[in-house]
Amino acid sequence: MAADFISFHRPSIGLEESEAVQRVLNSRWLTTGPVTQQFEHDFAAYVGSRYAVAVNSCTAALQLALDAAGIGAGDEVLVPSYTFAATAAVVAHRGARPVLCDSVPGGFNIDPMDAQCRVTSRTKAIITVHLAGEPCDLNALQELARRKSLHLIEDAAHALPASYRGKRIGSISEFTAFSFYATKTITTGEGGMLATNNEAYAKRASVMRLHGIRGDAWKRYTSEGSWYYEVVDAGLKANMPDLLAAVGVAQLKKADAFHERRCQISEIYRRGLGRIEELEMPPTGSADNSHSWHLFILRLRTASLEITRSDFINQLKENGIGTSVHFIPLHLHPYYQLIFGYRRGDFPHAEDAYSRCVSLPIYPDMTDCEVERVMSTVEDIVVKKRRRVLVGAI
Ligand SMILES: Cc1ncc(COP(=O)(O)O)c(C=O)c1O
Repeated sequence: MAADFISFHRPSIGLEESEAVQRVLNSRWLTTGPVTQQFEHDFAAYVGSRYAVAVNSCTAALQLALDAAGIGAGDEVLVPSYTFAATAAVVAHRGARPVLCDSVPGGFNIDPMDAQCRVTSRTKAIITVHLAGEPCDLNALQELARRKSLHLIEDAAHALPASYRGKRIGSISEFTAFSFYATKTITTGEGGMLATNNEAYAKRASVMRLHGIRGDAWKRYTSEGSWYYEVVDAGLKANMPDLLAAVGVAQLKKADAFHERRCQISEIYRRGLGRIEELEMPPTGSADNSHSWHLFILRLRTASLEITRSDFINQLKENGIGTSVHFIPLHLHPYYQLIFGYRRGDFPHAEDAYSRCVSLPIYPDMTDCEVERVMSTVEDIVVKKRRRVLVGAI
């Protein structure tokens, strides 16, 4: 293996993050407190939502959204098959049924037409995902949600910052859940945020993220707090500690600069690799939207290549390039087959995208040299493995 391995992801962490963590350590207030409040305030201002509730993961933010929307046993929730496990697992956690939907032909995001066909009298919500950071067709989904009286929840784990028709993702729907997992566009190591414009939802989520304790539960150990507390429901333990929020505050200040570099790299990839016939570039979305470029998902035109996707990934690895696959559609996993009866062949567009996809490294700290090396390695493999057509062969 090449010595100078270009990893699939490397978080951009600077002195600002280290100093912010040190300040929290020095303050001796490590768990949820004033720095988390600051992060919530800054985040809401950044995405343009009225409220933001900081939690320990995007998964928790989705759980809190489903709780606030009142989703429970017997309900159905529409979810794309082409997503990460968390998007649908949270539905099952509530005793509801995740109803999987196919992707748009040629793309990764949920197909609103397919979703519409799967609505029943039990359908209560749609969880949509802006896959890779490409805003999905929110207009069509909002229209479907309105017509069928469904809640619309955005899983925006990949979509900070992205915008739909000039509006930041996070400011549009009833609920938007963000992730600050280690590989995301800004990170706190682990972490998430629920953005909403609805005061009642924000209050409910704040209570349910910390044991279901009414009021500002975290304040009970401060000089302003009281020992008395009331549990109003069986809440989660999903609060974000100040130690991580400090990293979040510092990262958020850099979110625009990070985004600019991601856009640059995606542009370089598109220019360099887009001219290679055997490679299909990721969709950019419509011109009035802005993509976060959390992921750059290439699709191989495997019919024109004498190499499988798996061997392509192995060859990149042998040449010092880390990649990943986003995602194995949910209906291909044992849980969804055993419990919900899904089968291979159920969602042809999702399967087609999955069978040919490879995510290339894309992150702000990548040097131009690294970007060039990724491209030249990809090109070398394609050129070597190009399927030769024998002219005149019988
Ligand atoms: C689409 C999607 N939704 C949700 C999640 C869960 O995020 P977290 O790890 O912050 O819970 C992920 C994580 O990768 C994801 O890719």
